Amino acid sequence: MGSKIMSPCLDQRLPNRLSPHAIKEHLRTRWLGQQAVCCFDVVESTNTAANRLAREGAAEGTLIVANAQTSGRGRLGRSWVSPPGSGLYLSIILRPGCHPDWLPRLTLTAGVAVASAIQQTGMRPQLKWPNDILIADRKVGGILTEAVFDKRRIDFAILGIGINVNTERDELPISVRSLATSLGLSLGKPVPRIHFLQTLLHQMEQWYEFFCAGAFETILETWCEFDTILGKVVEVFLPETRLVGVAETLESDGTLLVRDKRGCLHSIIAGDVVHCRLEA
Ligand code: BTN
Repeated sequence: MGSKIMSPCLDQRLPNRLSPHAIKEHLRTRWLGQQAVCCFDVVESTNTAANRLAREGAAEGTLIVANAQTSGRGRLGRSWVSPPGSGLYLSIILRPGCHPDWLPRLTLTAGVAVASAIQQTGMRPQLKWPNDILIADRKVGGILTEAVFDKRRIDFAILGIGINVNTERDELPISVRSLATSLGLSLGKPVPRIHFLQTLLHQMEQWYEFFCAGAFETILETWCEFDTILGKVVEVFLPETRLVGVAETLESDGTLLVRDKRGCLHSIIAGDVVHCRLEA
């Protein structure tokens, strides 16, 4: 396992070793993570490994987990710092066969699954559109969805999920330390990593099945219950420009509607919401 010795406050000799056997034991899913589970001690990025496996034909529900990543990726070209032993770094191969336009909806579906899993630990997670998971306004996890598709359908999608489970404050990058947290830090006690992973997979399977059944409306309703930006002034960084306005609502396809101060409504398909405060 990882070389870092965890500080006493979060190292409670938890059953911590990520192995296919440990993950499958007590796993309550029907198919997700039940067949192929690939555990790395260290890997460049679980999304990269998953992409390789998917191209080789790996089945839907294949799970790739790592104890540490050397080049974990986040959205918009950012890196995802992945210290050994304390976080969860996983990728799930899915083959929804739907139109590529549905990909952002898949990210929102994963957000609901992660938030639901966190809720089961007794905490109150928040979702920040489109892919951030927060607790008390600090980032605790993120989702990176990547896919291979043609004009008509997704061949496969990789759901990459990173969660700071028992990550210590000094393991978080200095640049984000005041903006980030971990489940353990927020709860004030360690969270068993494998147990949390099993809960997460169970939630993911259920919400993904809703997604495949076309029940995105229900997913969106739940997403809005966890939402932390609607009704607030947000600053959205887009590829070419920056937009400030009030985050009004999510459309039925999951795009964010932001009204600027001139009253114009902007439909945001992909962007980075970096700042928000209550509407004046
Ligand atoms: C973000 O918040 O920008 C998304 C972060 C996603 C990180 C996870 S960790 C597992 C998977 N492998 C990666 O390289 N990235 C995702």
